[in-house]
Amino acid sequence: MSVEVETRINELRTAIAHHNERYHTLDDPEISDADYDDLVRELRTLEDEHPDLVTPDSPTQQVGGAINATFAEVVHEVPMMSLDNAMDAEELGAWADRVVRGLDGGTPTFVCELKFDGLAMSLRYEQGRFVRAATRGDGRSGEDVTANVATIADVPHELTSPQPPELVEVRGEVYMSTSAFERLNERATAAGEKPFVNPRNSAAGSLRQKDAAKTAERELSFFSYQLGQISAADGTKPSLDSHQAELDFVASLGFPVNEHVRAFSSIDEVAAHCLHWQEHRHDLDYEIDGVVIKVDDLAQRDVLGFTSRAPRWAIAYKFPPEERTTTLLDIQVSVGRTGRATPFAVLDPVFVGGSTVGMATLHNREQVGVKDVRPGDTVIVRKAGDVIPEVVGPVLAARPADSVPWEFPQDCPACGTPLVQPEGEADTRCFAPDCPATRNQRIAYFASRGAMDIEGLGEQMVDKLAEAGLVKDSADLYLLTVEQLVELDRVGTTSAQNLVDEIQKSTERPLPKFLTALGVRHLGPSASAALTDAFHTLDEITAKSVEELAAVDGVGGVIATTVAEWFAQESNQAYIEKFRAAGVNFGDPDAAARAEAERAATPQTLDGKTVVVTGTLAGFNREQTAEAITSRGGKSPGSVSKKTFALVAGESAGASKLTKAESLGVPVIDEAEFVALLDTGALPERFAVDDAAAVDDG
Ligand code: IVH
Repeated sequence: MSVEVETRINELRTAIAHHNERYHTLDDPEISDADYDDLVRELRTLEDEHPDLVTPDSPTQQVGGAINATFAEVVHEVPMMSLDNAMDAEELGAWADRVVRGLDGGTPTFVCELKFDGLAMSLRYEQGRFVRAATRGDGRSGEDVTANVATIADVPHELTSPQPPELVEVRGEVYMSTSAFERLNERATAAGEKPFVNPRNSAAGSLRQKDAAKTAERELSFFSYQLGQISAADGTKPSLDSHQAELDFVASLGFPVNEHVRAFSSIDEVAAHCLHWQEHRHDLDYEIDGVVIKVDDLAQRDVLGFTSRAPRWAIAYKFPPEERTTTLLDIQVSVGRTGRATPFAVLDPVFVGGSTVGMATLHNREQVGVKDVRPGDTVIVRKAGDVIPEVVGPVLAARPADSVPWEFPQDCPACGTPLVQPEGEADTRCFAPDCPATRNQRIAYFASRGAMDIEGLGEQMVDKLAEAGLVKDSADLYLLTVEQLVELDRVGTTSAQNLVDEIQKSTERPLPKFLTALGVRHLGPSASAALTDAFHTLDEITAKSVEELAAVDGVGGVIATTVAEWFAQESNQAYIEKFRAAGVNFGDPDAAARAEAERAATPQTLDGKTVVVTGTLAGFNREQTAEAITSRGGKSPGSVSKKTFALVAGESAGASKLTKAESLGVPVIDEAEFVALLDTGALPERFAVDDAAAVDDG
């Protein structure tokens, strides 16, 4: 065995001990969970290869948290264990194989729960009364946080079941919902305080408050997922023989048990379930970082037993990380199509949220100030789902001693004109009419996917065209020739011809795409579609007054004003004429008459009714669903409200929409019932309003 291995093992142990303290004791981690996991995995691999170097005090043999001196110590009679991790389906399969082998070929049922990103907590009840709450700590003893946990609405003070056990410890996770976290940060920013980094850290910090009144303000929640010590009044244990029975039991005592618990008999189904939640994690109003899989049968659990730190009968399937720590190399400012100057972070590239991130937005001047990130800082980078990557904040503990706050530039980096932050606005802008950055971004936006969708015309190509003096605005694109394009650096005849063809093809795009592409402030795709539906041609739209525009459903006063003002400007009228000359589609004058005829032919079964659709339907795509509803006089917005007539739930329906519909009493129907609704305008019979009851309700 080499000296290097031993040195590395020692290094890793020291680093892990340090990060354990930052995370568990100080609530101020210096690295992301994923980076921490990497250290532990490296250590574990080395120890597996060199078993003689494993020591009982190695972090791989222990549960992470240490005791914080300010709260009294509580010894856990039944230790609070940690979980081993599986990072992918293969590791999950390997775990299942070990389980089956451990059971001598027995057939386990796997119960899957979400892995809540909060803090493990043990709640103790004696004669049905809440007497103590303790954190996990190092697994053997934790901290007494009773006063703080007593403020959590989900935690009962008295157990409701008719005969609660003499003694029971209910274990689970204290967490902060995403919406509570957002409210907390809104309050923090309004008070000029630094925002909190993430819900988990806020929950941890909230539990560490010396004043329980402070904790109460933080809106914490609790999910229970396990029993600790338990004994019935006569000294016996209630006869619970499976995990699912345990969960039913804790629910009957009055504890919240999460609704997404599922049992499977094959590990392939388990893996599919894990992938489902990996994709849908952001549908929930709380953060999860994986799925916990547990063997259901308690007798089988006894057979499998524990390692020194974790049960062999459970494993945590961890999602790929959405947060990572890396170095902030520089802060730069880019100028967009509206002249907005957006600061962004240049990062030491890091793999997060499924891709390598080298740049991340910092939103605006104020945000950089509030977050106080500085070049040279170690920063937390977050990329969640489809959301663009962002810098969450600096790791202050790792800040270089000579670091100075970053200053927002005075002048536009593209044209040198002084930047302006208008009164009451968060954004700083370049107002120079001929700023090359603004102009090029406008043209790139014109050509982008949601607008004229001109393939092969990205930002780089636009920069080249503008630099060569070939385009000064988007209308100039239609004048480009193959001969001009081949003169450009690295443009061959084929790609030049393709680009000219693509530009030509874009003249046929539907009017709403063209309206959007013009980049008029506030005029996005949905308002563009609404204007087209109402007036059919560009000339009709430009002829309308602000009042007439504002009267269109989905348009409103602000959009109407900016649109009318934009078309009234002479320079814009000349601009529009260039598009007309190029043959761009300005809409169909006969569309009005046709739409009227179609409306007359389609029975208006949904007149004035709002129908929301979630998930995918077998017989309709998104556009067809919207069309089916609106052509029958209905509306189809993206979210559920009190006014929603029905929610149509297809395959993989969004959990948040379903929950909202349920809480508002909005009828939820399936695809077949939706088809019937389109025909008749009526809901299935089970939603029939009982007239007598309605009168009773007043
Ligand atoms: S069971 C012996 N179930 O994950 C098994 N833990 O890495 C004990 N966690 O300390 C844990 N959701 O803080 C379990 N549904 C769940 C969980 C869960 C989150 C946390 C818990 C635990 C950590 C282990």
